[in-house]
Amino acid sequence: MCGIVGYTGSSSAAPYLLDGLKRLEYRGYDSAGIAVSDGEKISQARAKGRLQNLCDETNDGKSIVGTCGIGHTRWATHGAPTKSNAHPHMSNDGKFAVVHNGIIENFAELREELISEGFVFHSETDTEVVAHLLEKYYDGDFKRTVLKTINRLEGSYALGIVCIDFPNEVMTVKLASPLIVGVGVGENFFASDVTALISHTRNVMYLDDGEFASITPDKITVYDCMGAEISKKITHINWSMEAAEKGGYDHFMLKEIMEQPNALKATIEPRVKDGKIVLDDVKLGAAELKNIRNIVITACGSAYHAGCVGKYLIEELARIPVQIDVASELRYRNPIIDEHTLLIAVSQSGETADTIASIKECKARGARTLAIVNVVDSTIAKISDDVLYTWAGPEIAVATTKGYTTQVAVFSLLALYFADELGRISEERYKELYNGIRNIPERCQRAIDLNNKVRDLAKKYSPKDSLFFIGRNLDYAACLEASLKLKEISYIHSEAYAAGELKHGTIALIEEGRLVIALACYHDLFDKLMGNIKEVKARGARVLGVAVEGNRKILAEADDTIFIPETDQLLSTIPETIPLQLFAYYVALENGCDIDKPKNLAKSVTVE
Ligand code: M6R
Repeated sequence: MCGIVGYTGSSSAAPYLLDGLKRLEYRGYDSAGIAVSDGEKISQARAKGRLQNLCDETNDGKSIVGTCGIGHTRWATHGAPTKSNAHPHMSNDGKFAVVHNGIIENFAELREELISEGFVFHSETDTEVVAHLLEKYYDGDFKRTVLKTINRLEGSYALGIVCIDFPNEVMTVKLASPLIVGVGVGENFFASDVTALISHTRNVMYLDDGEFASITPDKITVYDCMGAEISKKITHINWSMEAAEKGGYDHFMLKEIMEQPNALKATIEPRVKDGKIVLDDVKLGAAELKNIRNIVITACGSAYHAGCVGKYLIEELARIPVQIDVASELRYRNPIIDEHTLLIAVSQSGETADTIASIKECKARGARTLAIVNVVDSTIAKISDDVLYTWAGPEIAVATTKGYTTQVAVFSLLALYFADELGRISEERYKELYNGIRNIPERCQRAIDLNNKVRDLAKKYSPKDSLFFIGRNLDYAACLEASLKLKEISYIHSEAYAAGELKHGTIALIEEGRLVIALACYHDLFDKLMGNIKEVKARGARVLGVAVEGNRKILAEADDTIFIPETDQLLSTIPETIPLQLFAYYVALENGCDIDKPKNLAKSVTVE
C-alpha cells in the first residue's frame, strides 16, 4: 500500500526521505520516488521496483540537493507500476510536486477539465490532477492555493506538497487516509505511518480528516478545512525503534510469531482483574446488551478468520445470534441491520477500506459499533462507538500473526463478558474460562517451544502442490487461518475444509500422497474428526495431526502429530494456530519465498 513521507530542516532532505520510505517498505509497493526543493528548482527522482533502485539512482540521496522534500512508495491502483506513474507528480510549470495516498474519485472529470485548459498529463494516475490544480489556482499564496485545490477533490487523500517559491515549507493534507506529523527540533516531518518517523522523533501530531498543515523547520501550523488555524496536541509514541525492527530474527514474521506470548499478555492482563473481566471503558453492560438482538461481525482476511472464532465463542457462551460477513460483501448486500444490532468490526491496521465502509453502512442503519483494532487512533477506532485495542504492538510482516491471535484473545474475553453480563453462564464455568484465558500467554509460550519440531515437520512434509486443512467447529475456524497463512507466504494452494463436508465432493481430490493437516483440538468432536482422518487415509493421504497433549488416540490415525499444550477446548484456537504459523513460515523458507513481503500483497489495504 502507498506510503508518504516529508522532511524540512537544515540537513539534506533526500537521505531522510529514503530512510523514511525504507521503513514503509513493509506496506508493499511497486515503485518509489522523491522530490526535493533547493530554493531554485525541484529535483525529482523516481524508480520502478524496489526502493534500492531509487537509492542507486540517487547515490543514496546524495545526488539530490535541498533541505525540504517529499517521498512516496506506490502500490499501483490507477495505472501500471511504471516510472511515469510513480510519485511525486509535478505541475507543468515545475513549481509544485505532489505525493498522494488514497484515491481522487472525481479525477476523470478534473482531468478532462484540465486538459481542455491546456494542461499536459504525463501519467495515468489520479494524483496528477492535484499537481495541475495547484498550478491553476496558484496566486503566490501557498496555503490559499492548497485550500482551493483540496476544495475541488473528492475521495480520500493524504497529500504532501512542495512549492518552489516556499523552499523550506511542506504542506500536508489529510482526508480519510492516515497522516501523522512528526515534531522535531529545528526539523519537522510527516508520514503516513509512525514507523517512518520514530528514528527521528517520538513526538507526533495526528491530523484529523479535513485538516492540513504547513510545516517549516521551526514551525508547524495546522488548519481546519476552512483554513482557520487550530491547535493540536502532541502525542508521545512509546513504540521503540527496536520494537519496529527485526530484533535479530531473519524475518519480521518469525519475530512477530515469537512475540505472541507478550502481545497476548499485554492484551489480556489489563482486562482480567480480581476474578472478573473488565473491558476498558466499553459501554456494553447488561442493559445495553438486552437491547441487542443480533451481532454482525465484519472484517477482511485474517481479521475475518478471528471473527469466525468469535462467532463460535459468542454463540456458545452468550447465546446471542451472530452472523459474520467479509466486509467487501457486507457493504454491498443490503444487510438486515437496525438499532438492535451490534456490529463488531475487526482490523489490525484500523485502515482497511472495506471494513471502514461496512462500519459506515451499518452505522447509517442504526447499528451500534464496536471495533477490535491494533492501531491506536486509526480510522476504524475513531469511527466506532466503542473500541477494544489488541495490544500487539507494531506488526510489520504482511502476513499477520500476533495481530490475529490477539484478536482471538479479545473475542474470548468479549464472549465470556457478554455471557456473564447476560447471566448465561454458571459461576463455575466462568471461573474455568477466566483462568483459561489468563493462562493463554503461558500456553502460547509452550506452543512456541515446538519451533524445532515444526521446522523438521515442515521439511518432511513440505508440500509441493495443493493440500487440505480439515477440522470441526473451532478447529475449522483455525483451519481457515492456517490455510491463508500458508497460501499467502508460500504460494502453495491449500483449502480449509469443514471435515464433515469433505465427503460432499472434495474427497475426490484426496489421492495417494496428498497432504491433509487435521486439527483435532476441539474435544467434543475429536472422535468424529478421527473418522474423517480414517476417510482420507483410506484414499492414500498423508496426515499431519494437531491435537492437545495427552490425547494419544490420534497416534493410531495420523502419520505425525503436533501436540499443543492443554487448554479448554473453547480457547485452543490460539495455541493451535502458532505451530501452523511456524509451519507456513518454514515451508515458505524452504521454497525461498520473500516471506515478509509476499508477492501481490500489501500490509494495509486502504483502497477498495
Ligand atoms: O488490517 P486488517 O486486519 O484490517 O487487514 C485485513 C486483511 O487485509 C489482513 O488480515 C490480510 O488478510 C493479511 N495479509 C493476512 O495475513
